[in-house]
Amino acid sequence: MPDGREVERSPTWVARDAEVVWHGFTQMAAYPDNAPVVVERAEGRELIDVDGRRYLDAISSLWVNTLGHRVPELDEALIDQIGRVAHSTMLGNGNAVVVELAEELRQVVPVRGAHFLFASDGAVAVEQALKMAFQYWLNRGVVRRNRFLALGDAYHGDTVGSLSLGDGGFSSSLFDPLRFPVLRAPGYADPEWSTKACRAVEASADQLAAVVIEPLVQGASGMLCAEPGDVAALGRACRRAGVLLICDEVATGFGRTGTLFASEQCRLEPDLLCLGKGITGGYLAMSVTVASDDVYRAFLGEDLGPETFFHGHSYGGNALAAAVALRHLRLFTEWDVLANVRARSAQLSARLDERLGAHRAVAAVRLRGLMAGVQLMSPGPSARWGRRVSAAAVRRGVLLRPLGDVIVVMPPLTVTAGEIDRIVEVLGDAVDEVTG
Ligand SMILES: Cc1ncc(COP(=O)(O)O)c(C=O)c1O
Repeated sequence: MPDGREVERSPTWVARDAEVVWHGFTQMAAYPDNAPVVVERAEGRELIDVDGRRYLDAISSLWVNTLGHRVPELDEALIDQIGRVAHSTMLGNGNAVVVELAEELRQVVPVRGAHFLFASDGAVAVEQALKMAFQYWLNRGVVRRNRFLALGDAYHGDTVGSLSLGDGGFSSSLFDPLRFPVLRAPGYADPEWSTKACRAVEASADQLAAVVIEPLVQGASGMLCAEPGDVAALGRACRRAGVLLICDEVATGFGRTGTLFASEQCRLEPDLLCLGKGITGGYLAMSVTVASDDVYRAFLGEDLGPETFFHGHSYGGNALAAAVALRHLRLFTEWDVLANVRARSAQLSARLDERLGAHRAVAAVRLRGLMAGVQLMSPGPSARWGRRVSAAAVRRGVLLRPLGDVIVVMPPLTVTAGEIDRIVEVLGDAVDEVTG
């Protein structure tokens, strides 16, 4: 009986939860039967449920957590900021801690002369980038460049604009009547994707506002990985064609792939960069669209004039989130987090290959940094292998959540060698149990 607390509470909690909370990407009719974990608190990289059971957070709470939970330095930054102000609007006014955050981010983002428009979710950072790219050309008097090119298997979020860029996963085709059409080049699953995308950019340059990519890894489509050189080639094609490049690093940003931003490995200097998820280490909702100085300057003009970017969200630039994000960014250097990502990535890659590389139920293992996907050779969607393998891992104390039949392994960036071994051991046993 952990902590001397009462046990046997979860049926109540699950029932109470299902009664009032509508969970995203979840069939609520089946929710209570799928043994959901109802979290009460956390310690380090472990989540603790209402019954005191512990789970290693091997999905970083949907890819947002970087340094673990309840990091004393981040807690302190949050408490310190609460003593000043929790939030004040960014519309036409400023906030000191947001200025400090933007100044320090400007030193590290791969965007020339960066300017920051803050929001709260990744999809909104993408939405803002789309509108900025669209208006950029209009502000410059160019009317024909109003289309976007996105890749096959892309995922950029669930708002209608970001959904339009996405390539129809997660039943989004249902919303086809609402989605605007985009030009589509193949995604990273096609070995020729880069050549084909470069050709598409050249062919449609005069109509394209921007090309939108997830540099290096298409995460939500199952950790499909690209070679940095291929991504770099697309970046050069955009430059040659004078088309804006939007890099969506909502998933890959803040150290996930072994560098602070995946764009660095691909030698990209995007005109617009979308960040979210890891920006506050998984503490608070914050995202940001980063614009190059060239893009930003196209919006300068008369007060309230037509060049103005008329877009902003109530909680954009929240001061509590900014204070945590600032401390988080400094901790990356102080703790040399990227060195751990690289070492643990090499270990995770080797262990997954050893344990599952030749497993007859495994079709592929893909990994960049601490973003990994184990693709199961499923007999079909009705077998629900992804779901069942994850559930078997959860029963063993490792929290996993699949993307279809791809098991995602995405631990916090401070994960230890022992924890990597444990994750792979548990995943291996879970695969054996389900696939028999
Ligand atoms: C590449 C990418 N862009 C955008 C998003 C959407 O972010 P959010 O869920 O914060 O809206 C995601 C979420 O997984 C993502 O992976």
